[in-house]
Amino acid sequence: MRAVVLASLAPLALCLTPVQLPLVKEYSGAGFFDDWQYFGAGDNFTDGNVIWVNQSLANQLRLTQVNTAGNAVVKVDTSAVVWDNPRNSVRITTNDFFEIGTIFVIDVVHIPFGCSVWPSIWTTGQPWPENGEIDIIESVNLMGFNQMSLHTTSGCFAAAGTDQTGSPVSTGSNCSQTAGCGVKENKPNSFGANFAQNRGGAWVMQFDVSGIFIWFFQRSEIPQSIVLSNKTLTVDTDSWGPPSAAFVNGTTCNISNYFQAQQIVIDITLCGNWAGMASVYNQTGCGAFTNNTCYLNNVLGNGQNYANAYFEVSYIRAFSSNPNAIFTTTASAPAATPTTSSGSGDGGDGAVTNGGDIVVLGWPGFTLGFGLLFLGLLV
Ligand SMILES: *[C@@H]1O[C@H](CO)[C@@H](O)[C@H](O)[C@H]1NC(C)=O
Ligand SMILES: *[C@@H]1O[C@H](CO)[C@@H](O)[C@H](O)[C@H]1NC(C)=O
Ligand SMILES: *[C@@H]1O[C@H](CO)[C@@H](O)[C@H](O)[C@H]1NC(C)=O
Ligand SMILES: *[C@@H]1O[C@H](CO)[C@@H](O)[C@H](O)[C@H]1NC(C)=O
Ligand SMILES: *[C@@H]1O[C@H](CO)[C@@H](O)[C@H](O)[C@H]1NC(C)=O
Ligand SMILES: *[C@@H]1O[C@H](CO)[C@@H](O)[C@H](O)[C@H]1NC(C)=O
Ligand SMILES: *[C@@H]1O[C@H](CO)[C@@H](O)[C@H](O)[C@H]1NC(C)=O
Ligand SMILES: *[C@@H]1O[C@H](CO)[C@@H](O)[C@H](O)[C@H]1NC(C)=O
Repeated sequence: MRAVVLASLAPLALCLTPVQLPLVKEYSGAGFFDDWQYFGAGDNFTDGNVIWVNQSLANQLRLTQVNTAGNAVVKVDTSAVVWDNPRNSVRITTNDFFEIGTIFVIDVVHIPFGCSVWPSIWTTGQPWPENGEIDIIESVNLMGFNQMSLHTTSGCFAAAGTDQTGSPVSTGSNCSQTAGCGVKENKPNSFGANFAQNRGGAWVMQFDVSGIFIWFFQRSEIPQSIVLSNKTLTVDTDSWGPPSAAFVNGTTCNISNYFQAQQIVIDITLCGNWAGMASVYNQTGCGAFTNNTCYLNNVLGNGQNYANAYFEVSYIRAFSSNPNAIFTTTASAPAATPTTSSGSGDGGDGAVTNGGDIVVLGWPGFTLGFGLLFLGLLV
């Protein structure tokens, strides 16, 4: 059905110049940390051995800071921890919510890595999981690659056979299972020491009714359209190539049913129920796991294991043709409080968003994402 529609429109598409989207929000430079909520409590989501400190302690310990290069640093505390205590770390969530239809560009110089380290830059709707979660950057320990995942209430599955360069992590790609529906990055240098040695790279995440698409570019391969995105993003998918992860809307997952406006989260936890699982720890370069090894060999003690446990972020930008794509919560409570039941099957109905129906290029009802998919298929 879609193929027929696309074919009939194909001649028009050849005349198109790439869509340009205005910047609606940028986190960068001296003001990077201005519009975030600091979690200020322990990791009760993933059972990590951390306290995500409040803003005053983060400032005092310099766990969040802007460095001399003008980049934002988010790091794990490297001071000594005595037996049975957690280690200080950071979880911050944007005050802003971004409607469906937003494209995010995230330029990162360094991602935390090392045994026990579990960093992520991701987005979440509220409430969670009813309004969806999109994990853009996430990996653990000494893994050599990034993983991208969706988390939803039950009934959403990543469609098979989409045009993506990454590989599904699990058969079935059930987005409501605990691990979500993950896609392994296959491009080189997406995580760990190699990512850092390469001076990082950039991710683009398109959050659209037509699907959720994530591109990764290592530093030397960041397209000019992204390098020059400081005011306007030229959505030049011809030069971007196929995304690393393509969660395409359709009968396996009606995206606008499972995802509403998202907040951005940056966090680092330690051990917990991914990095600290015996089988995972053992398989990701950290050696044999006996009893409590993740905590005892890493979290406990002088913190020397955490020299590389920091994010260095050049910027996070959000683009949309919808001037109402962004709104700010007035809530002072920590965002993204999870619910314990994820099987309700209620995909967030009632929380109506109109941000998805963006008209571009004068084609009524033709969404940006659909247009992108369409352009992508012509390449
Ligand atoms: C986690 O902690 C936060 C902040 O203390 C709290 O609001 C939330 O209810 C807790 N969630 C769970 C699942 O315990
Ligand atoms: C921040 O956390 C520290 C450590 O728990 C606590 O002593 C301090 O009172 C908190 N500050 C604020 C402003 O909540
Ligand atoms: C998907 O995962 C959910 C949550 O674990 C589960 O209830 C459901 O049965 C799974 N669906 C399939 C088809 O495996
Ligand atoms: C935006 O980027 C271009 C190209 O790097 C640069 O020439 C220009 O000064 C930048 N503008 C702003 C406002 O930073
Ligand atoms: C998304 O997929 C659903 C089928 O589940 C379809 O009804 C809807 O029209 C699709 N949305 C777009 C924007 O294509
Ligand atoms: C997809 O979700 C949208 C928004 O919730 C809804 O309007 C539409 O009817 C759904 N399509 C199908 C096929 O369920
Ligand atoms: C991981 O565990 C398996 C089975 O217990 C063991 O044979 C293997 O040596 C372990 N690998 C490492 C790196 O510790
Ligand atoms: C594991 O280690 C903890 C803390 O060192 C200890 O309390 C517990 O008894 C140990 N369990 C086993 C099965 O050795």
